[in-house]
Amino acid sequence: MRSIKTMIAAVIGVAVIASVSFVPHSQAAANKNEAIAAFETIRAVLQNPRCQNCHIPGDAPLQFDQGLAHAQNVQRGPAGFGMAAMNCSTCHGRANLPASYGAHVPPGAPNWHLPPPQHKMVFIGQTSAQLCNGLKDQKANGGKDLAALLKHVDEDKLVLWGWDPGIGRAPVPIAHADFVAKFKQWTDAGGPCPG
Ligand code: HEC
Ligand code: HEC
Repeated sequence: MRSIKTMIAAVIGVAVIASVSFVPHSQAAANKNEAIAAFETIRAVLQNPRCQNCHIPGDAPLQFDQGLAHAQNVQRGPAGFGMAAMNCSTCHGRANLPASYGAHVPPGAPNWHLPPPQHKMVFIGQTSAQLCNGLKDQKANGGKDLAALLKHVDEDKLVLWGWDPGIGRAPVPIAHADFVAKFKQWTDAGGPCPG
């Protein structure tokens, strides 16, 4: 008798545990799938010309929506700030120039430069999976964990410039707040990658 009761209790116990653990598990899977879907919005922003013109595999920054090589043979240089006598800051100031200067003037934001040659942080020409894995690889992203990445896309001045790129350049078409919300959804789910 006692052993049957014990068995029944054990079976009920297993059933309860199974049903309890089933709910969060499927919830986690749903969150993961939604976060992977959210990553598509992140990808679209990262691969917008305003962002990917600096996030390049080569050593010359790119210009315009077509991603043409930067005029005047501007190069990345040893730390991303340009070559001696051709530093980014020679031409790019801390802010965009007033509209009265017209188009084709150098855009500006604090600390205008490329990622260093050791960590190029390439966005251009990457698949979603490559982009996602590269983004969260701390050896490639300058040691940023997911929280630091979220803070970067929320606050960094070079990122914010993409929504205020100066006269003659189209801003990133997805609202910054929507981009940050999708980015948070992705980091909250642990940064899952497609593929
Ligand atoms: C003027 C060049 C420039 C532009 C424009 C630019 N970035 Fe960057 N980005 C950098 C540099 C330099 C770093 C490295 C900074 C650091 O590690 O502190 C960086 C780092 C990042 C990182 C973190 C590291 C990683 O592995 O990717 C993210 C995310 C990022 N940028 C997103 C963007 C987005 C989104 C835009 C457009 C809205 C943008 N960037 C536009 C230069 C630029
Ligand atoms: C000799 C001056 C000069 C130097 C030095 C220079 N730039 Fe530029 N840059 C410009 C001008 C001018 C433009 C705007 C071109 C236009 O709109 O016709 C520009 C545009 C850009 C753009 C294009 C933005 C876009 O989305 O279309 C990027 C990115 C850029 N520069 C990055 C850099 C980086 C990074 C450095 C340093 C490694 C640098 N530049 C050095 C003059 C310069």
